[in-house]
Amino acid sequence: MDQPAMKHLLSIADLDRGELEDLLHLAGEFAEVLERPIPKVPTLRGKTVATVFFEASTRTRLSFERAAKALSADVMTFAPGTSSVIKGESLKDTALTIRATGADLLVVRHEAVGAAARVASWLDCPVINGGDGAHQHPTQALLDSLTIRQRFGKLDGLRIGIVGDVRNSRVARSDIDAFTLLGANVTLIAPPTLLPRDLEGFPVSISHSLDEVIADLDIVYLLRIQMERGSGPGLPSLPEYVSRYGIDRGRLERMSPDAVVMHPGPINRGVEIAAYVADDPRALILDQVRNGVAVRMAVLFRLLGAS
Ligand code: NCD
Repeated sequence: MDQPAMKHLLSIADLDRGELEDLLHLAGEFAEVLERPIPKVPTLRGKTVATVFFEASTRTRLSFERAAKALSADVMTFAPGTSSVIKGESLKDTALTIRATGADLLVVRHEAVGAAARVASWLDCPVINGGDGAHQHPTQALLDSLTIRQRFGKLDGLRIGIVGDVRNSRVARSDIDAFTLLGANVTLIAPPTLLPRDLEGFPVSISHSLDEVIADLDIVYLLRIQMERGSGPGLPSLPEYVSRYGIDRGRLERMSPDAVVMHPGPINRGVEIAAYVADDPRALILDQVRNGVAVRMAVLFRLLGAS
């Protein structure tokens, strides 16, 4: 509890291993709170959290709102489609307005890289990046790390394959940072057109063949093809992609017996993941969602409650 106060959470790169471990430890404690008959503590009474999502979201927004409420904070939900953004109001003026209505912290999701950091530079309160373009999604990496730790006890030495549309994935970028900081070995598995253009500086191995590496992985981490970020032209063809990179029953059976499948959601059944695999107990997808609430409680507590 005597960690130096965090100001914002914009990127996993802002954290050192100690800070990351502290958040996971705290999330583990909040996970226990969520198991109680009354899953609520008064820690953030009187604080107000605003979720400011300019891009679609189910898991991230709802779990931030649930996390804030479990800490007894009040929640304001901003919806751009029914807001004055329609009248031309800028991101800066929108953020200043939300702050002026009494928000103590903003969770920001936006299609532009760096949007949450810009909001943080304009405001005198904490900001959490809920996803900025293909750049970062730090709380997703925290909940993924917590899910892996619960299953394997640690990340050190684990072999994690991140499969699919890495080029357009903020989840992949945050996960690579967090998993490698915690000692895992990460392999990116994708056709060349779905890998980041400049792989220099990524502490990862690369493979273009899932079948060559699948038996050696502890975790097969699948990504959705992000058509909304222009993944279409990089795709061979959907049936070819599915046959080379999708996880079906046959590939699940070739994984090592203790290995697991993860996915940040939303899943596309029949594309990157067969329906059979999504419903198999070795898929941890809903554990990830559950842990998202505990991890977001930990981050909200560190940013708003530490004093
Ligand atoms: C992801 C996102 O929005 O970055 N979803 C999530 O937050 N769990 C991944 C995706 O959209 O494919």
